[in-house]
Amino acid sequence: MSKDPQNFRSDKDIRKTVQSLRTLHIPRPEFNKLDARFGSLLEQRRADDADGVVFKARSIMLVGQSGSGKTTAVRHLVHKYRRLMATDPGEEICEYIGLQVPSPATMKFVGAATLRALGYPYAGNKQGPAIWDQVKEQLKRRHTLFLGFDEAQDLARYQTEKERQSVVNTLKSMMENSVWPVSLLLSGMPGLKDIVNQDAQLARRVDPVEIGRLHSLRDVGPVIKIVQKYADRAQIDVATSVKNEAFAMRLIHAADYQFGLLAEIVVLAVSHALFTDGFDAKLGIRHFAEIYSERNGAEAWMNVFIAEDYGRINPRKLLDDGDKPKDGEDA
Ligand SMILES: Nc1ncnc2c1ncn2[C@@H]1O[C@H](COP(=O)(O)OP(=O)(O)OP(=O)(O)O)[C@@H](O)[C@H]1O
Ligand SMILES: [Mg+2]
Repeated sequence: MSKDPQNFRSDKDIRKTVQSLRTLHIPRPEFNKLDARFGSLLEQRRADDADGVVFKARSIMLVGQSGSGKTTAVRHLVHKYRRLMATDPGEEICEYIGLQVPSPATMKFVGAATLRALGYPYAGNKQGPAIWDQVKEQLKRRHTLFLGFDEAQDLARYQTEKERQSVVNTLKSMMENSVWPVSLLLSGMPGLKDIVNQDAQLARRVDPVEIGRLHSLRDVGPVIKIVQKYADRAQIDVATSVKNEAFAMRLIHAADYQFGLLAEIVVLAVSHALFTDGFDAKLGIRHFAEIYSERNGAEAWMNVFIAEDYGRINPRKLLDDGDKPKDGEDA
């Protein structure tokens, strides 16, 4: 039954289903840890505020490789807490303010970006320390309890030792502020750990949560279930060729052992199946192989879902020509 793929791409029900695949959130053990830490910091702060006492704030750092799911986890966390705290940046009182660390991450730039995130018009003629004084004032004015910095590994990028120390001092001064202490939610790549560990006082006040790599044996069971979960949401069948451990291991490798990337590949493959075969689709290896080659520009012998010895393929490399075997040699 060969249909014109365009028919399905413009089909309203198919488009709706694809959108709902993108919003599906898969629970992760790391998320529960993040949630528990955040919840207890919030509870403590509420209790302190009720008692009229001010303590130094604690912070959280969420670390993981690119594509592990850090930004998504923070977004999901803030969404989850929207009933327990004010999270709408459009409102005067906003207890969580999040932003991405700008580049270059000089203290002046980061301060200005933070002021902007706080909705304060930054004039641009102030020096670093004056900007941060204003940040602190605005944090108090808006009752901000948590300040989220995503891509926080960039805070140490291209910085001299002196600048790095001033970053660390600024972060500490937000948490130690005697009038309005603020907890930080730092999320970023593993380089973030070095920034925090560079200062013993800071390290002592930061709780780490790490999104680890997927494990090619331990995680195959859950991965098979995740593929099924997405197919169920799309209401399509799954071929036996993608319901086994060997396939799950390929998928984990294709995602470079990162959970978020894995979810993203499954969403793309299921969407591709829907777009090409509609609700009659049967999700198979072909769908994964096709979106992989589309994304990475890979020929079949460099395609993790097709190549026999896929372990040698670096899935992060786009248009990887590799060491193409000569005729007569094994691929
Ligand atoms: N728990 C989850 N359930 C479903 N999809 C997820 C989940 N976590 C992450 N993803 C998906 O994984 C992809 C990558 O996630 P995200 O952008 O959060 O990673 P990241 O760690 O912030 O990466 P980077 O360091 O490159 O910014 C996104 O497309 C996101 O939708
Ligand atoms: Mg991110």
